[in-house]
Amino acid sequence: MMLEIHEAAKHFGGVRAVDGLSFSMNEGEVVGLLGPNGSGKTTLMNLVSGALKPTSGDILFDGVAIGGKRPDVIARAGVARTFQLVRVLPSLSILENVMVPAAFGREALWGRAAEARAEESLARVGLKVSPGKLAGDLTYIDQKRLELARALAARPRLLLLDEWLAGLNPTELQEGIALIRQLEAEGLTILLVEHIMDAVRALCPRCVVMASGSKIADGPTAEVLDQPEVVAAYLGGIDA
Ligand SMILES: Nc1ncnc2c1ncn2[C@@H]1O[C@H](COP(=O)(O)OP(=O)(O)O)[C@@H](O)[C@H]1O
Ligand SMILES: [Mg+2]
Repeated sequence: MMLEIHEAAKHFGGVRAVDGLSFSMNEGEVVGLLGPNGSGKTTLMNLVSGALKPTSGDILFDGVAIGGKRPDVIARAGVARTFQLVRVLPSLSILENVMVPAAFGREALWGRAAEARAEESLARVGLKVSPGKLAGDLTYIDQKRLELARALAARPRLLLLDEWLAGLNPTELQEGIALIRQLEAEGLTILLVEHIMDAVRALCPRCVVMASGSKIADGPTAEVLDQPEVVAAYLGGIDA
């Protein structure tokens, strides 16, 4: 198993955002993480990436416990993520935006090596804009591409995508799906939080579904989406 989550919990005061969640992922899998708003998906991403420390439970990456470790330590181990709300550095150039994570990734690249890695990552996401342009001047889809390039700059083995496809128009959505497929073909393992069901069906052979911090389903996507608990959890709660 590449990723093992054992009884992970994260409580904020009385709010049990993640409440004893367990599942595992094999290397090369693309798994959808579904659930209504507030079900704990982003919190789980934060636990895996190290942005938050679990209240209890274990998270293992390649058999090594990473739960509660610092984000840079987890990034160096080979885990990268995008944020639900895009987080590019608007006053830095596109190239500089991607050089930063290259420096803090698995290989800690500096100078020309970081620049080369940044250029490679930008090419992978198909961002066809001058790398000297300020990130703040990019269109929304290109900011999303840039954010993905930032995640890829560390050459991760596990990629966490938090609603990376949200807010794209239909043409951009198809481009985004093709791009994720390309990353899968390159061997990346991907955990994908997504509300757009067409995208989930197109990309994820397997889904894990959360409700109120707990796992309510895990299995082949078509079967999971038919389960009564899943249908009930989504009633009135999903926009797709
Ligand atoms: N930093 C935080 N402090 C307090 N409550 C939080 C925090 N982050 C998330 N929550 C709460 O945890 C629950 C799960 O949130 P979240 O993980 O963002 O859900 P999702 O991504 O599935 O929409 C929600 O009730 C949310 O309000
Ligand atoms: Mg979220």
